[in-house]
Amino acid sequence: MKIEVRYFTKSGNTEKLATAVASAAGVGALPVSEGLTGHADILFLGSSVYAGKPAAEISEFIRKNASNIGRIVVFGSSASGKSSFGKIKELAGSVGIEVEPEYFHCPGHFLWMHRNRPDAGDLNEITGFAKKMIAAD
Ligand SMILES: Cc1cc2nc3c(=O)[nH]c(=O)nc-3n(C[C@H](O)[C@H](O)[C@H](O)COP(=O)(O)O)c2cc1C
Repeated sequence: MKIEVRYFTKSGNTEKLATAVASAAGVGALPVSEGLTGHADILFLGSSVYAGKPAAEISEFIRKNASNIGRIVVFGSSASGKSSFGKIKELAGSVGIEVEPEYFHCPGHFLWMHRNRPDAGDLNEITGFAKKMIAAD
């Protein structure tokens, strides 16, 4: 089973989560500017929320790499608690990609909000989540 981890980050929060996922999976965490070079059975996709939605770079990555993506597992953070899961599910569905219904979300530091998040507790939690997703496959 091939596992890949991709993320988009503006201020490093999603990258922290991606690094924990990658470490649990025993692979590297790469930005979405790095396309998939072959088929990925599970793609852990790190996407946080900007102006109410995922970054355009995430949509572009899904469209460009659709033929190499088996199943997407979404993780991310935001200031409000809102996840980009719904929008990703919609977009992935429109190009025929399955999205795991369970996703990981935690508060992410933004301006004066959620200082130090994701923190050690969040990283511990996402590590357990990633291991569970891999074991279930
Ligand atoms: C330009 C910008 C726009 C944002 N817009 C939202 C938003 O609409 N809703 C929200 O809940 N959080 C918003 N946030 C907060 C981010 O989702 C949060 O800080 C997240 O952890 C950022 O992850 P990153 O550091 O990987 O980019 C915004 C952050 C930035 C920088």
